[in-house]
Amino acid sequence: MTRRKAEKLRKMEEGLWIHVTGSRKNIRQTEFFPLVEVLLASEQVRALGLYRHHVHTTRYQHCLNVAYYNYRVCRMLHLDAVSAARAGLLHDLYHYETAEYTSSSMPHSSYHPLAALEAAEELITMNDRERDMIEKHMWPVTRHRPKYAESYVLTFVDKYCAVLEFLSRSHRVL
Ligand SMILES: [Fe+2]
Ligand SMILES: [Fe+2]
Repeated sequence: MTRRKAEKLRKMEEGLWIHVTGSRKNIRQTEFFPLVEVLLASEQVRALGLYRHHVHTTRYQHCLNVAYYNYRVCRMLHLDAVSAARAGLLHDLYHYETAEYTSSSMPHSSYHPLAALEAAEELITMNDRERDMIEKHMWPVTRHRPKYAESYVLTFVDKYCAVLEFLSRSHRVL
């Protein structure tokens, strides 16, 4: 291992370097980071690191990935990038292994956005855009169409991140 790589790993372990899948940037040093810093430190969000998501990663890493790329795309499109970052981080805020969901009354694709919305509302006060982004993020798998442009972006970014994570072998655990 090169000295540079060892140094990066040390910083990651100490929380001084935070990465998103598909980027080499330290997102701690970006304008995005202060928007989610408090939420990232919350017990509810940190606990997402206990759950595997999209085979090779954790739900914490997935939510961070979606938050970052959702922010970038919404900022580029002159949309509400701050709400995009916050809702992206909380869009999968549920605390159980997906494979353990067994209810027959509702498919998991419909259930978990509602569970995430409820958990997010317990954590912070949200605006309508943030609520819509979380609730509709599984569209078009689920029926109700998003109301805001930011929500359509999140549906795309969520799927993009899922592919990126599936193809990535780096397994980030808190
Ligand atoms: Fe989801
Ligand atoms: Fe997701």
